Amino acid sequence: MRRKIVVGNWKMNKTNEETKVFVKEFEGIAKSLLERKIIVGIAPTYLSLATAVKGSKKLLIASQNVHFKENGAYTGEVSVPMLKELKVKWVIVGHSERRQYFNETNETCNLKLKALVTGGLNPIYCVGETLKEFEDGLTKEVIKNQLVEGLKDIEASAVKSFVIAYEPVWSIGTGKNASKEIAEDICAYIRSIIRKLYSKAISERVLIQYGGSVKPENVKEYLGQTNIDGALVGGASLKVDSFKTLLENI
Ligand code: PGA
Repeated sequence: MRRKIVVGNWKMNKTNEETKVFVKEFEGIAKSLLERKIIVGIAPTYLSLATAVKGSKKLLIASQNVHFKENGAYTGEVSVPMLKELKVKWVIVGHSERRQYFNETNETCNLKLKALVTGGLNPIYCVGETLKEFEDGLTKEVIKNQLVEGLKDIEASAVKSFVIAYEPVWSIGTGKNASKEIAEDICAYIRSIIRKLYSKAISERVLIQYGGSVKPENVKEYLGQTNIDGALVGGASLKVDSFKTLLENI
């Protein structure tokens, strides 16, 4: 049985002080879910990572981004060794907002994924199609490219502990979540690509999340699908009450 993993992606929300208050609220529920093999995490901004790590023993703390170089003249960027020093172990790579607003490509995602593997950190690698691609019937083609190019030259021994998040761009922050059937179909497809690129054993180990307007009311139906091992949650992870209810509803 694969574990489940639910991570709140806070995007550009919450100050350091707000993070401190929030994580305190979640130790108990994160502990009891861990006993059921469900990992709960949050991805605050860079500025709040140290506070989140310090304030929590049971939550998985993820960075929302990283640069692929270790250091250098890259104004505004943060590297793998810097995250490691803070004891951050997880990093979101290739979120559609980064692809859309910050020119992230499959190639830069690949460099980031490799840098994480070298540094011994774990990625949550996001893939997903835009509304136009969905309407044009290109979903699987897009996802396949994102996987093939993003995972290029990365060894099976590393990929087996990756988390892949399927996030259709048209469902992020829109309230228009993909149906559980669509989400399951694409997550099963992602697993089949991993099987082709690596092996059946690796494909059965990789955790695959669905993300896009996951709410307390719909989380259970996604996590009940054979190939969906968790959720990446934006808006509904920002308020203590809604994230708690979402976790209680799993
Ligand atoms: P949403 O965001 O839950 O607000 O749709 C999901 C995400 O961007 O990871």
